[in-house]
Amino acid sequence: MRLAPDRPMRLAPATVLDYRELARRRLPRQLFDYIDGGAYAESTMRANVADLERVRLRQRVLRDVSVRRTEVEILGQRLSMPLLLGPVGLGGMFARRAEVQAALAARDAGIAFVESTVSICSIEEVARGAGVAPWFQLYVIRDRRYAESLMARAREVGAPVLVLTIDMAVPGARHRDTRNAVVGSPPLRARLLRGLDLLAHPRWIREVGLGGRPLTFGNLEAAVPGAGTPAAFREWVDSQFDPSVTWDDIAWVREHWPGRLIVKGVLDPEDARRALQAGVDGLVVSNHGGRQLDAVPSTASALPAIAEAVGDQLEVLADGGVRSGLDVVKLLALGARAVLLGRAWAWAVAAGGRAAVGDMLARLRSDLDVALALTGHGTVATLDRAALVGAGADVGLAAS
Ligand SMILES: Cc1cc2nc3c(=O)[nH]c(=O)nc-3n(C[C@H](O)[C@H](O)[C@H](O)COP(=O)(O)O)c2cc1C
Repeated sequence: MRLAPDRPMRLAPATVLDYRELARRRLPRQLFDYIDGGAYAESTMRANVADLERVRLRQRVLRDVSVRRTEVEILGQRLSMPLLLGPVGLGGMFARRAEVQAALAARDAGIAFVESTVSICSIEEVARGAGVAPWFQLYVIRDRRYAESLMARAREVGAPVLVLTIDMAVPGARHRDTRNAVVGSPPLRARLLRGLDLLAHPRWIREVGLGGRPLTFGNLEAAVPGAGTPAAFREWVDSQFDPSVTWDDIAWVREHWPGRLIVKGVLDPEDARRALQAGVDGLVVSNHGGRQLDAVPSTASALPAIAEAVGDQLEVLADGGVRSGLDVVKLLALGARAVLLGRAWAWAVAAGGRAAVGDMLARLRSDLDVALALTGHGTVATLDRAALVGAGADVGLAAS
């Protein structure tokens, strides 16, 4: 049998990219592209993957790795492995009540689910449906009273950690969304073709579009009453995102959030030091999956300098381009204490709901375990740059 290189899957998914392929077949093009795409020329999005791919693990042998432990404690949370399902907006458009399904898979796997501000299922629905409170991701919006009410809701359900996303002062352009006529004011013909894209996916219409509660933004129903689409999201961003926010606003968040607080979207060591001064508990080294400013560094290349600057005082997490458990090991070796998945879980949930996310997480856990054993590590805690060939220097990481 001949395998087309861009369609590696045959009969059963084995990798995250196989789940991507299944998602591609199931979803309307406009939704698949919304997940799959990045900002501008998508070069940062590609660099996230390519730089991780270039990092070489250092194989070590005969070191008694018969006992291997993947558990970590992050911000007071015990996780069975150093992995979280990161915040992904509009999740419930990819599968029926997808955030609940993904949160259940995360719970089953012993890891945390991060509920996005712009989820379809509300934080209350996720907490109730999964039987465990998710972490909550917040955007700082102009309507501070609304943001305060969101923090109050997160506190009410018992969310243990607030993830404040700070890399979206203004939204970057995503050309795929423009081409698919999901943003802006496209001409009538383009809008009709967009409608046809939905109609060409009757299974999605049946299972997701019509199968269940309305597809509104569960956390924003009072602010954005209509359907939770990429266009509505973009309109809300344009009207609500606040480019005047500064580090001083962390004090306001602290007034309303007594629990653990991390900021997501740091790419520069100076900003990491500012985060430390601002009194947060941790940060996520992230470029939003290459969905904001194109041409910024990949997270694999930005992470080491940030971990060196603040890693002994703040919990440093990272995301971007993680497609296997080996990638998780690489980011841990580069200085992260845990890693968030974005597209990986979005593809899996679109492909097969809770079961597919569970299967994908089991595969990542197994990759992680094998990589620990073959790099000669009995625990994720001992991973550092010594686990990499040339400490990562082969991709210019030592210099950063
Ligand atoms: C479809 C999609 C929606 C996203 N929505 C959010 C969001 O609502 N809030 C947020 O902080 N980050 C959001 N992100 C960024 C992710 O949390 C994460 O930083 C990024 O996806 C990591 O890169 P990866 O997709 O290569 O794993 C989104 C990413 C994707 C792909």
